[in-house]
Amino acid sequence: MKLTLSVIKADIGSIGGHIQPSSLLLSTVKERVRHDENKLVKDFYVSHTGDDIAILMAHRQGASDAQIHRLAWDAFVAGTAAAKSQGLYGAGQDLLKDSFSGNVRGMGPAVAELEIEERPNEAFLFFAADKTDPGAYNLPLYLAFADPMNTPGLILAPAMSKGFRFVIMDVSCVDGDRVIELNAPEELHDIAALLRDPERFVVESVWSRATGAQAASVSTSRLHNIAGKYTGKDDPVMLVRAQMDFPATGEIIEPFSIGHFVAGGMRGSHNMPLMPVRLNSPISYFDGPPIVSCAAFSVHDAKLTGPVDVFNHPFWDAVRHQVSLKAMDMRRQGFFGAAMLPMAELEYTGIKDKLGKLEERFTIRAAGKEYARMR
Ligand code: F6R
Ligand code: MG
Ligand code: MG
Repeated sequence: MKLTLSVIKADIGSIGGHIQPSSLLLSTVKERVRHDENKLVKDFYVSHTGDDIAILMAHRQGASDAQIHRLAWDAFVAGTAAAKSQGLYGAGQDLLKDSFSGNVRGMGPAVAELEIEERPNEAFLFFAADKTDPGAYNLPLYLAFADPMNTPGLILAPAMSKGFRFVIMDVSCVDGDRVIELNAPEELHDIAALLRDPERFVVESVWSRATGAQAASVSTSRLHNIAGKYTGKDDPVMLVRAQMDFPATGEIIEPFSIGHFVAGGMRGSHNMPLMPVRLNSPISYFDGPPIVSCAAFSVHDAKLTGPVDVFNHPFWDAVRHQVSLKAMDMRRQGFFGAAMLPMAELEYTGIKDKLGKLEERFTIRAAGKEYARMR
C-alpha cells in the first residue's frame, strides 16, 4: 500500500509581529493532530519556520485526501483560537475561507504531497521557507535535478543519467492549474527560459525518468490569487526524496549555499537573499531575510525517524554570514531599482493609489516653452 507524505502549513498568528508562533499555539496544533494519531495519521511532525506552522503527516490515505486535509484545517482553526486568546498578531491570517470544503488547496494553507511506493530505506527532506514565495525553490531544484555542475550523480549514477521531468505551473493563471511538462536534459533551455521568471513559473513537481517515481513536490499556492488582495507572502513548503535514483541529500542542499535573491522580505515586496536556517528559527532583520529550513527524515512503514536539522552544521554558519552581508548590501539602496520588486509584484496597493493621483498632475509641455516653465 502506498505511503503518502503530506505537509500542510499556515501562518495563523505570531508574537511581536510576523516573527514566530507562541509555544501555546504550536502545542495546540500538535495536540489536535496527536489526537488523531494511529487512526488516519501514522506519524507526524509539527514545526515552525518564522511565523509559519507546518504539519508533516505520514499516512495511507493518498494525496488530496479530504480527512487528512480536514485534520490539518481543524488543527489550524484550534490554533487560531489559541492565537486569539493570546492576542497574537495575524491570528488566523492564512485561513481565508470560513468553512472547510474538502481540500485545503485554495483555502489559504500551502500543501505539498508525495504519494509513493516506500523504499526499504526511504530518505526524504522537508523544506519550509518564510517571507518568500514558491519560485524560491526554482533555482535549487534546477541545479539539483538538471545541472551536473551541482549534481555529479547526473553523470555518475546510472539511474539518474536518464534525467528528470519537470512539471512547471504558470501561477499567474487564476482560471485553473496551467502546467507544462518538460524533460531534462533535452529541454534544459526551455526549462531555464521559464524558471528564470520565478514570480510566474514555478516548479510544482519533479519526476524520475528512469522509474517514473515522483522525486519532489512543491506548494504552489498564491494567497494573492485566492484572496484577490495582499494577505501575506506564500511561504512555500517542499518535499524531496533523496539518494539512490534521486540526487543525494548533499546534492539537494548544495544550491542553498548560494543565498540566491528571492522575492520577499519586508512587506513581501523586496529582493532579498535566501538564508538557510536551523529548524524552528524566528524572523528578524527587515522582516527577513527570507529563510529556509530543512528537516531530513527516514521513513519505514509510515513511521518517521528524525528529523535531523540539516542546516544546523558549522558549514552553514559561513553561508549565513555571507547571506547577512548580501542582505545588508541590498538594503543600502532602500527602495531603488532592484532592491524592491517590480510594480506587479508589490504586495501592498498604497503605491498604486499614489501613482494614480500623480498621473493626473502630469502635463505635456507645449513646444518652445521649456525655458518659460523654469522661470
Ligand atoms: C512579509 C510580512 C511582513 C509584513 C509587515 C507589515 O511577508 O509578513 O513584512 O508585511 O510586517 O505587516 P502588517 O501589514 O500586517 O502591519
Ligand atoms: Mg505572517
Ligand atoms: Mg510567513
